[in-house]
Amino acid sequence: MSNTISKEKVMAALATVDDPELHKDLVSLGFIENLKISGNDISFSVMLTTPACPLKDTIRSDCENALRRDIPELGEIKLEFGARVRGDSKLLSKADIPFKNVIAVGAGKGGVGKSTVAVNLAVSLAASGASVGLLDADIYGPNVPSLMGVSEPPVQDGEKLVPVKKYGIEMISMGFLIPGDQALVWRGPMIHSTINQLVTEVAWGDLDYLVVDLPPGTGDAQMSLAQQLPLTGAVVVTTPQIVSVSDTRRGIDAFRKLDVPILGVVENMAGPIFGSGAGESVAKELDVPFLGRLPLDAAVSHSGETGKPLLLKSGDSEAAAALNEMTGKVAAAISVLQG
Ligand SMILES: Nc1ncnc2c1ncn2[C@@H]1O[C@H](COP(=O)(O)OP(=O)(O)O)[C@@H](O)[C@H]1O
Ligand SMILES: [Mg+2]
Repeated sequence: MSNTISKEKVMAALATVDDPELHKDLVSLGFIENLKISGNDISFSVMLTTPACPLKDTIRSDCENALRRDIPELGEIKLEFGARVRGDSKLLSKADIPFKNVIAVGAGKGGVGKSTVAVNLAVSLAASGASVGLLDADIYGPNVPSLMGVSEPPVQDGEKLVPVKKYGIEMISMGFLIPGDQALVWRGPMIHSTINQLVTEVAWGDLDYLVVDLPPGTGDAQMSLAQQLPLTGAVVVTTPQIVSVSDTRRGIDAFRKLDVPILGVVENMAGPIFGSGAGESVAKELDVPFLGRLPLDAAVSHSGETGKPLLLKSGDSEAAAALNEMTGKVAAAISVLQG
């Protein structure tokens, strides 16, 4: 058979396929690259706005269906995914900030699994191929180093502190700056200058996503952070209990006052002991996305104790699936914000 397949035909077929989240077609979005035609076979790349896109399977089958429908003589279709993460314009305008997006993980109170969610979000984003940093800004209980199995403090290189690299993630913790077990009384200006140090005096690489584990609550520290580091969006962690839910309302309210978009609510420790459903209902009540339910699971706390995040340990558990799904939703929500 003669070569009847043209680039125009292929692009016309792909122009009928919409990105399910951005609601525009893949051709107008500029997502189709490297189109090659060899006889009746074609290959091309779909360049997404995040490597953690949760809808790759849908996009692949939509592309294949459109191509087969419009070009019946087509032979093999080779589709590869790539990604160019879009940056937050608030961050891109700041020359001294090398992050494309900053994701704050917050909670109305401590002990709800904020750090667990932050760490696994970072791991899941990194596993998808993104460049990721993790900033432990929890001045009251910085526990990211232990969750990540890091005991050595970062080293100084000239003026700057070099982030510790673990599991492919760049990490800096407030814990490194607080001497020993010394309890500190944090005052506003002190929080302000320390957070500033963690952002500007650290040799961060160029990162697609910086995940920030915020101090619990709705006070000075959150304010300082949002003022110095424009936050792309916030993930709010809650447990199914009533007290936690009322704290969550306050937490969401505080982010809204700072004009930080709420990426969604995660309900952690769901199951027979604490119940479930409260996270989803508070998300509905406040009209923010629900990112999913992370079950209470001994494997989660055990992985925390051993310094190896759950997603790197038991990737096939219900908790791991929930964490990956949550990550996909967060990444997609950010892509939509940047759209
Ligand atoms: N889904 C879960 N199942 C079991 N244990 C959990 C879960 N989420 C968190 N934990 C445990 O609860 C404790 C508090 O979690 P952490 O992430 O440190 O909370 P926070 O940062 O909000 O204070 C830790 O010991 C952690 O391992
Ligand atoms: Mg914590």
